[in-house]
Amino acid sequence: MSFLLFCWLAAAVVASPLDFHQEGSLQVPLTQAGPGYRATENTTAKQGWFDPRLNGGRFLDFTTKKYGEPLNIIISGLSDPFVLTDFGFRYYTKSLGYSEECLGLHYGNLHDADLGDGDGRKTELFLARQYYFPVWGTCWESLAGGHHFRAWKQNGTMANSGAWFIGASKEYDSSKRHTIVPNGYNIGRDWLVERAVKGGRYKGRWWKAEVEWRSDLIEEGKKGVNHGIAQDGRIAILTVIRL
Ligand SMILES: *[C@@H]1O[C@H](CO)[C@@H](O)[C@H](O)[C@H]1NC(C)=O
Ligand SMILES: *[C@@H]1O[C@H](CO)[C@@H](O)[C@H](O)[C@H]1NC(C)=O
Repeated sequence: MSFLLFCWLAAAVVASPLDFHQEGSLQVPLTQAGPGYRATENTTAKQGWFDPRLNGGRFLDFTTKKYGEPLNIIISGLSDPFVLTDFGFRYYTKSLGYSEECLGLHYGNLHDADLGDGDGRKTELFLARQYYFPVWGTCWESLAGGHHFRAWKQNGTMANSGAWFIGASKEYDSSKRHTIVPNGYNIGRDWLVERAVKGGRYKGRWWKAEVEWRSDLIEEGKKGVNHGIAQDGRIAILTVIRL
């Protein structure tokens, strides 16, 4: 409770979203199709993403020993190279209406995911929450609930696509300990995808995404899904284009 109070107070003082001042690296990771990918191996063409299942991964993260949350969005490695950097990705997600966690402080469990890129299970790199203008920022979302996502990068040597794998969902407020609302995985995914496709800007950079829907990557239903909330088996592949 004292943490939440601190969060509120600090937000009131700052009263504006956090800004990024340093310039990010604009390097695009080189793509190497690893030995597990003979079928798709093509070192001349950049591959937008690799199916994690081909190399021991899966489209559910590891929330607990038994359950996971769906990785329901991929931002393809064929996207704007800026968006594929850590810095650029944060920047881009602000254009979608997310912000970082309350003042960059993390609470809650970190999730692992196995993207089949040779890294095995790795911890999420990034968690963002819906941004509520104007004062409380993401601290408000922390209390009120709303949209959020976790992201991992597919850049192990076995499948170095540079793609972002995202688990998006909508959750209840903190009194319910941030559990997911009914149908919250599909709702959270659609919220992000709708905004990405519509297009938007942040600080003078404009983007718009193309979406390809896939229903052959994860089985629909609630088997193995955290909180027993069914998902519809659809995964959105976004290619984000800088305008
Ligand atoms: C690799 O991709 C390039 C560019 O898309 C294509 O021209 C070439 O035929 C592909 N090679 C193989 C072996 O699939
Ligand atoms: C993969 O990406 C993350 C985030 O950008 C970075 O910290 C890590 O060093 C990268 N791994 C490799 C092998 O490049």
